[in-house]
Amino acid sequence: MIDPKTVPSFKLNDGGTIPCIGMGTFGSDRVTPDEVAAAVAGGIRVGYRLFDCAACYGNEDKIGVEFKRAFDEGVVKREELFIMSKVWNDMHRHVAESCKKTIADLQCDYLDMLFIHWPFPNYHAPFCDVDSRNPDSKPFSVAEFVDTYRQIEALVDQGLVRHIGISNLTIPKLNAVLDKLRIKPAACESELHPCFQQQDLFDYLVEKDILPIGYMPLGSPRRPERDILPEDIADMQMPELVAIAKAHNCHPAIICLKWALQRGQLPIPFSVHNYEANLRAAVTEKLTDEEMATIATLERGNRLVKGQVFLWPGAKDWHDLWDEDGVIVSCTDC
Ligand SMILES: NC(=O)c1ccc[n+]([C@@H]2O[C@H](COP(=O)([O-])OP(=O)(O)OC[C@H]3O[C@@H](n4cnc5c(N)ncnc54)[C@H](OP(=O)(O)O)[C@@H]3O)[C@@H](O)[C@H]2O)c1
Repeated sequence: MIDPKTVPSFKLNDGGTIPCIGMGTFGSDRVTPDEVAAAVAGGIRVGYRLFDCAACYGNEDKIGVEFKRAFDEGVVKREELFIMSKVWNDMHRHVAESCKKTIADLQCDYLDMLFIHWPFPNYHAPFCDVDSRNPDSKPFSVAEFVDTYRQIEALVDQGLVRHIGISNLTIPKLNAVLDKLRIKPAACESELHPCFQQQDLFDYLVEKDILPIGYMPLGSPRRPERDILPEDIADMQMPELVAIAKAHNCHPAIICLKWALQRGQLPIPFSVHNYEANLRAAVTEKLTDEEMATIATLERGNRLVKGQVFLWPGAKDWHDLWDEDGVIVSCTDC
């Protein structure tokens, strides 16, 4: 057990706070909803207070049972948890409905943060193959994104949501939408790990006072098949990381988390076996400046979630999702 009061927090741009590390809840098509819910139950009891959920993870109803049990047993109060969830791509026109279902499933009365999971309304089915495409998929639209965001702003006004998050955005897309939003996003969830540091995006978010939340902070060794390509690098096997872990007498996962925290991003590692050790990473000795500098050299452009299944008819390949030339690819209304 790690006393939650000893776990540092990040400050949000509206003055609120958020624990500096959270538990991911995506089972990656490999870990069942019951197993994820059991990890959440255990996570609460070892001191986690932040949980990163999503409607499309297909397990919010099971996790909700464990939240309710923890409230009923007096393990934790609702207001001591920071619960995040995400609107899936097929619900961009029905955000209130999606949010109310998530709140009912999670049995949590309100959400501390609700994210737009992807900036496209492009739906893919759970367990789908990497080559599957939805013929109705569309490229990014500023007006459609802002419309979805405004629906979350209305939920903030109603008290159902405390903060708004965005996810999987690029700098060009952020530039296109930020000045059109009434309530500033509190956080942006992006893929961030030692071999995929996204330094430009990270710096941009910090400069705009939007908290960077890093998903796949360990390089997601058991990610879904559709997100595995032969050229992908296993972050935790990088010799430099292994050597630093040896010096600290811990697993490379712990070094990835310490690096994330000291860099200033909030990691949300998923684990059903090692979650207590991961939380402890936030309260034990820090990496040296030299170790931080070494990890900074590990950037390899190792994007693991390419997003192929979100491509629209006419898109070249997955690079089109990430605006790599600094302009939004195929924007319908930019
Ligand atoms: N916004 C988005 O679009 C988006 C996309 C992807 C993910 N996410 C979020 O980010 C979370 C994390 O990403 P992820 O689950 O893909 O990857 P991850 O957290 O980088 O990696 C999780 C894997 O690492 C292993 N692991 C965890 N701690 C370990 C330790 N201390 N030692 C050894 N192995 C360890 C876990 O195995 P064990 O279970 O055996 O410990 C699990 O297989 C997700 O659960 C989800 O909440 C968001």
